[in-house]
Amino acid sequence: MLQAIKFSKGNLEILDQLQLPFVEKYIPVRTTEDGWHAIKDMKVRGAPAIAIVAMLALAAELTTAVDSDKLSQSPEEVCQYITEKLAYLVTSRPTAVNLADAARKLEALVINRTKASGSTGRDVATAFIQGAEDMMGKDLEDNKRIGHNGAEWIATHAAKPGSSEVAVLTHCNTGSLATSGYGTALGVVRSLASKNILRHAYCTETRPYNQGSRLTAFELVHDKIPATLITDSMAAALLADTKVGVNAIVVGADRVAANGDTANKIGTYALAVLAKYHGVKFLVAAPLTTIDMATKSGEDIVIEQRAASEVTSIKGPSGGSETTNQITIETVQIAAPGINVWNPAFDITPASLIDGIITEVGVVEKGSDGEYHLGGLFDGSA
Ligand code: MRU
Repeated sequence: MLQAIKFSKGNLEILDQLQLPFVEKYIPVRTTEDGWHAIKDMKVRGAPAIAIVAMLALAAELTTAVDSDKLSQSPEEVCQYITEKLAYLVTSRPTAVNLADAARKLEALVINRTKASGSTGRDVATAFIQGAEDMMGKDLEDNKRIGHNGAEWIATHAAKPGSSEVAVLTHCNTGSLATSGYGTALGVVRSLASKNILRHAYCTETRPYNQGSRLTAFELVHDKIPATLITDSMAAALLADTKVGVNAIVVGADRVAANGDTANKIGTYALAVLAKYHGVKFLVAAPLTTIDMATKSGEDIVIEQRAASEVTSIKGPSGGSETTNQITIETVQIAAPGINVWNPAFDITPASLIDGIITEVGVVEKGSDGEYHLGGLFDGSA
């Protein structure tokens, strides 16, 4: 299985996604600052992966301190240091809630460890490292459950009567490269394929950053899943094509508000509107770490604005040779110089357009009042 994040004995390496799909190169992340820049520069992206890499970057830094026996500070000082580094990491990207959620959980863990009688500074650091590593393992397990739950739901609710196979469309990259492994929405596609329910998968190019054509297409080819790439503007024509017969659109999420409104990669909202028009099921696949009960609705979600150059130019390899793996990624201007650009990285899909939210504990649908009641997911009553 593709692995975007490798953490072993305190050493963190990430697959540099800026070079994919042309070069598969792992780069070391040794400090919190390395982690912050890797996230900001999109060397790693995707809501769960951002959170895991941020936590593991600090874990890698703390491991170096623990191993070198230089960690002589008091538990309170180590706790304070971790809290400050977490606050810094959370500033790397604003929209995905997983990062803030992971920081909050590990901060609570180290505060508890600091208060425990007999704790040393080293114990506090070790507790953080273990907590970060556990988070990575849990994310992978959760994704496999999301994949299974989503595939079962689609087979039951989206397949045409008498047919045991479905075609699905997905957007952006939500796979192994966006998580600890397997993926969320792409995990659902993987699960459909492994259960022999998938007739065909379609993935959008996902302009302007091309997470679909560069990363999702790479994963689909890697796993030999029958799949076709389309540009974002082809989605309506694809859904209208009865020979293709798309049964469901399944996407990931960066933040699901308490009312079900969902922030995800720009273009998601357009797909949800198209799905409604064509009577195609529209599903969001996300772990509970992406559901933010503190955010009431989509209006309260901060949307990251990114550089104009992502829209005015495209990137691709120039020259190089496959045998030496020496490929330079070049940027080519494609827009008229001087034009104004609007480049929001995400949009909000209203809950009313979402047929189900696929989580590791099950698929939530709207209640009889037409509203999502997501609180039950956290107290076990859903
Ligand atoms: O800007 P990106 O590439 O980080 O955006 C990624 C997405 O929008 C994904 O759909 C989302 O983070 C879910 S990844 C499992």
